[in-house]
Amino acid sequence: MTKYNSIFRDNLFQDRTILVTGGGTGIGRAISHELASLGAHIIIASRKLEKLEATAKEITDAGGKCSIYTLNIRNEDAINAMFDEMLNDHKTIHGLVNNAGGQFPSPAENINQKGWHAVIETNLTGTFLMSKTAYNRALKQNQGNIVNIVAEMWNGFPGMVHTGAARAGVSNMTKTLAVEWAKDGVRVNAVAPGVIHGHGITQYDPAFVESYVKMASADIPLKRMGTESEIASAVTFLLSPAAAYITGETLKVDGASSLWRKTWVIDNHQNSAKFDGFED
Ligand code: ADE
Repeated sequence: MTKYNSIFRDNLFQDRTILVTGGGTGIGRAISHELASLGAHIIIASRKLEKLEATAKEITDAGGKCSIYTLNIRNEDAINAMFDEMLNDHKTIHGLVNNAGGQFPSPAENINQKGWHAVIETNLTGTFLMSKTAYNRALKQNQGNIVNIVAEMWNGFPGMVHTGAARAGVSNMTKTLAVEWAKDGVRVNAVAPGVIHGHGITQYDPAFVESYVKMASADIPLKRMGTESEIASAVTFLLSPAAAYITGETLKVDGASSLWRKTWVIDNHQNSAKFDGFED
């Protein structure tokens, strides 16, 4: 049985219902386990039913409450239909964790319009549509709050330009929504994970992962990758009353990698055109 040991106090989220997108795997699964272990009724939504079922079983076997809905966050009609069903079943939600996302590594010059749009639609548009729907249909009625999962994109995101642009957009959107929705007591924050050793990394080509992990860990001041639980506990803090005065913030959980790590090797070259306005 999968048991989750949270650092937070028991029943912190008693009588709270929290929707976690992409909650069936990886960081989303850890967030779902952690919040359920603290008494929340967790609703996980994503595209793949088998993954949802497996995580829901883990949570309920451990004594937690978990419901599942299949959902494509890129489609506003599907989101509204899912909310119809979910609110009929559970009345309201008190929190939303926008964790669902996806991207693929590629040099920018090889990404076509379809690939670019797919990543922007999932990570940026999907997060906006989910936030707006949750706010209008539940959160503004009960001072709920939102946590968005973004990424380490502070120096751009060489190798994944699409997700860097989308996640930076979400971090900016987090500030806007925090201000616009403050009137209803709805807080909106984000967590920016650094390099996490977990399910996410297994999605990529093993050769890419091996070189990436070696390069990344060496340059992280804490000299290791983070865990999914270290992201889950930051999300839990931001959702909790302990963060009642925090809104519009993106919290880095990255072992200081964003202050130090080089993510891209620049080959030696002499291709920089120079400007010199002086005539000898
Ligand atoms: N996880 C990755 N992409 C997703 C999508 N479009 N909808 C829901 N969950 C997802």
